[in-house]
Amino acid sequence: MNLSVQIGKLTLQNPVTVASGTFGYGVEYAQLLDLNQLGAVVVKGIRLGPVRGNPTPRTVEVASGLINAIGLQGPGVDGFIQKYWPFLQSLKVPAIINIWGTTVEEYAEVARRFDSLGGVGALELNVSCPNIKEGGAQFGTDVKLLRQVVAACRQATTLPLITKLSPNVVSIAPYARAAAEAGSDALSIMNSFPAMAIDIETRRPTGPCIKPIAIKLVWEAAKAVTVPIIGMGGIQTAADAIEFLMAGATAVAVGTANFYEPQTALQVIAGLREFMERRGIFDVRELTGSVQVANPANAAQRPAGRPFM
Ligand SMILES: Cc1cc2nc3c(=O)[nH]c(=O)nc-3n(C[C@H](O)[C@H](O)[C@H](O)COP(=O)(O)O)c2cc1C
Repeated sequence: MNLSVQIGKLTLQNPVTVASGTFGYGVEYAQLLDLNQLGAVVVKGIRLGPVRGNPTPRTVEVASGLINAIGLQGPGVDGFIQKYWPFLQSLKVPAIINIWGTTVEEYAEVARRFDSLGGVGALELNVSCPNIKEGGAQFGTDVKLLRQVVAACRQATTLPLITKLSPNVVSIAPYARAAAEAGSDALSIMNSFPAMAIDIETRRPTGPCIKPIAIKLVWEAAKAVTVPIIGMGGIQTAADAIEFLMAGATAVAVGTANFYEPQTALQVIAGLREFMERRGIFDVRELTGSVQVANPANAAQRPAGRPFM
């Protein structure tokens, strides 16, 4: 059975990763699961310098999800390399570094720094954080800026680039195309969805409640581009992950579920294997984009693979 997938020139031993910001820098989870069984470890967003983040409380549980407003706290490039990189380098699985900046130049500089570090699996460009005023969704909701930031990072590094798109757009296809055309090797879809007006400046939902929205975005983006997509948003089970693969994702990331069940990603891998065995599927890549949509016009208004409700 083949579980391995390709994200640009990066090979993952299986398609199950963890979502940035829900898994610390990997080391925090080392006692809770065998990290070497994952497809990749994706770390919390890093910018050039350290960031304090928002005052607490930063997370609030709601029905079927979590509202978060972390404010991209982080140690900056130097702090990260000093404190977390030796551990990440000791792992057998690749580390994907989630990066961000407040200007195009800063994104490129961070990309350059990680390029020269050596041993990084891939860079994930967070152009979609809704929790900060500058450097987040502003780049992911303006096609021109998105092109600029991806192109600048492309020039700055030969590492595989994954652009993490925002769900907060009318149609995701132009953003998916722009990122791919500007040199992104893959896309990840999606960041937190701004759908809950508790505090309009800072608070955003993640978790199971956003899954149908994420599935639909992956399905739409997969029709627009040929680069691989890492799907995320509300994944709790192997069935959720398989849904993302069928909608068009090549790999997936487990996010909020890590907080209440750190073993979720491993359970997803086991469930994926079990599903493939049961259905006689030898290569996980067969699942990608395998949803059968009877009426494509109709499907644009409903979650992929699900009956219209
Ligand atoms: C507490 C928290 C922190 C996050 N931090 C980041 C981040 O630093 N960079 C990023 O690109 N996404 C970040 N995200 C978004 C997640 O990576 C993921 O896209 C989102 O939570 C959807 O997946 P989920 O519903 O499985 O959690 C964060 C999410 C949460 C809940």
